[in-house]
Amino acid sequence: MLTRRIHYYSGITIALFVTLHLTNHAFSLMGIEKHIEVMTQLRKVYRNIFAEILLLSAVCIQIFSGIQLYRSRFKIAKGFYEKLQLWSGLYLAIFFVIHLSAVMVGRFILQLDTNFYFGAAGLNYFPSNLFFIPYYSLAIFSFFAHIASVHYNKMKERNRDVRKQSRLILIVGVVMVFMLMYGLTNGFNGIATPSEYGILIGK
Ligand code: HEM
Repeated sequence: MLTRRIHYYSGITIALFVTLHLTNHAFSLMGIEKHIEVMTQLRKVYRNIFAEILLLSAVCIQIFSGIQLYRSRFKIAKGFYEKLQLWSGLYLAIFFVIHLSAVMVGRFILQLDTNFYFGAAGLNYFPSNLFFIPYYSLAIFSFFAHIASVHYNKMKERNRDVRKQSRLILIVGVVMVFMLMYGLTNGFNGIATPSEYGILIGK
């Protein structure tokens, strides 16, 4: 089916970026400066008109094709991984709309550098962290959950170890959630963000 094929290829494009993006966030475990240094290098790859148009178009295609697939499968999905694929995909679609709108508003309207502090602001202050910790954690986990489900649903007839492999992908997802939340909050001790980012958290 054409929609499925399109969804698969735009998904691979997005997954390549997200892998780099989450690796970038994992560098926060080595300190804020390291995170910013890695982002500065990675921006040479994705912060240009071609890469951004490709990425943002892939995200739009992914959301529209995903919603179509969701609607056609919602009633017939059976088993853990078929349902997990639908629910994680639905969350990612909602997350993409909010996350990308926030990044674009931050960049073009608030004129902020959308670097480490932009991502970390909401995670480090009460009460905004009550929203941002589950919001980002669920997004990171959904990314891995979606990959684990695609792997399971594609390979279940051909690969005897598929259940173990998909479970491992889910475990990596949970570990990533803890690593990134730990790194982006300075080991849950909190990070003071520069005053210009105060607007993001009502300070
Ligand atoms: C801990 C969780 C996350 C934080 C704190 C975060 C933060 C950020 C920040 C600060 C940017 C701007 C980057 C820049 O200016 O160079 C950004 C961009 C972006 N993020 Fe995230 N992100 C997180 C998780 C995710 C996840 C899970 C996804 C997708 C599944 C995602 C997808 C994207 C995309 C597509 C962009 C746009 C890149 C561009 O065109 O500039 N992010 N994020």
